Amino acid sequence: MSLNAQKIREDFPILERKVHGKPLVYFDNAATTQKPRQVIEAMNDYYRNYNANVHRAVHSLSAEASNAWEQAHEKAAKFVGAKSWDEMVFTKNATEAINLVAYSLLKKQLKAGDEILLTKMEHHSNLVPWQQLALAHGLKVNFANVRSNGTLDTEDFEKKLSKKTKLVAFTNCSNVLGTINPAEHLIKVAHEFDALVLVDGAQSTPHMPVDVRNMDADFFVFSAHKMLGPTGIGALYAKKDLLERMEPFLYGGDMIAEVFLDHTVFNKLPWRFEAGTPNIAEGIGLSAAIDYLQKLGMENVREHEKKVMAVALRALHESEGVTVYGPDEIEKRSGVVSFNLKGIHPHDVASILDRYGIAVRSGDHCGQPLMRELGIKGTARASFYVYNTPDEIKLMAEVLHKAKQFMG
Ligand SMILES: Cc1ncc(COP(=O)(O)O)c(C=O)c1O
Repeated sequence: MSLNAQKIREDFPILERKVHGKPLVYFDNAATTQKPRQVIEAMNDYYRNYNANVHRAVHSLSAEASNAWEQAHEKAAKFVGAKSWDEMVFTKNATEAINLVAYSLLKKQLKAGDEILLTKMEHHSNLVPWQQLALAHGLKVNFANVRSNGTLDTEDFEKKLSKKTKLVAFTNCSNVLGTINPAEHLIKVAHEFDALVLVDGAQSTPHMPVDVRNMDADFFVFSAHKMLGPTGIGALYAKKDLLERMEPFLYGGDMIAEVFLDHTVFNKLPWRFEAGTPNIAEGIGLSAAIDYLQKLGMENVREHEKKVMAVALRALHESEGVTVYGPDEIEKRSGVVSFNLKGIHPHDVASILDRYGIAVRSGDHCGQPLMRELGIKGTARASFYVYNTPDEIKLMAEVLHKAKQFMG
């Protein structure tokens, strides 16, 4: 079934606003997505009608809030194909989820001389935590190369695996190149070396069906704000036996079962990893966002983005003086396209588009090492979602054409 983007747009109050007197065209979805009223209302409803802390009191409001919080875990678990909701830990965002794994693993499972394998297309969030850990504890970080067509060099990836590789972390979809990495294959070969694998799902979970068990990921992270939900909530999926072996990352209230003056018995999963009062309204917002996406159907979301991307790639390729980064094949690409206009700085491209109400990102997109590999300082980046239409892309192409004429 194809999505009706025009109908979907009616659910997003922000899409009614104008920017510089023009209707807003929002193409910065890889940074964060807009929120439908269903999400905004679900969070409002919590604050208006059952605001209370979770897991602490017997009174009705707390019971209702606790139910909603637990339900959010259950929905998130199902959404990514986890076996049960105790494998789903809520964090502040994908970045915190990656840091949680990095710290917890180091406490028991990583030691000096061990190796970590990443790729050169990682977001800083899936690079800096491992790099800093490695610097502090004598680990070595290797990086798999990216081919000139923007796909991962899987042969290089396989060559860089060894018995010393204890952890592999890679992005499911690149936030710069749009590349969809072959997660199942990469995980399978990493497991042959007994390495644990973390998949950064920040750019895949919002845009395509995801199944952590099919891909056999040991860890999988994502952020609610990139999938119609609020900021301040993200998630870590981890296989239960791994979570059971991991040390908590933060200590304090809620993550305990019993506390004595000299020792503590930690709570059951997943609460052991959620110390302190959590972002309750945000969890409820995530729950509503998942409901919304499931109603649309993730296969349909993916198909819609493929259609929109086909229009975008055609328009950009046809446009003289435009360099497009990332794979040409739609099947290998998510709804992200980075590009440059010859002789015009990406920030200028973004500023000109903004004058026409079109929001795109410009800069290094938290991928400085990748920019160095590409030999550029930055790009303009348009990233699409369920409410974007081919007409909006055509408008962007027209403005880019004007920009080239205007800038000479
Ligand atoms: C591929 C990728 N990984 C991780 C992140 C970090 O997400 P957050 O800032 O929500 O933690 C992003 C954000 O842009 C991303 O694109």
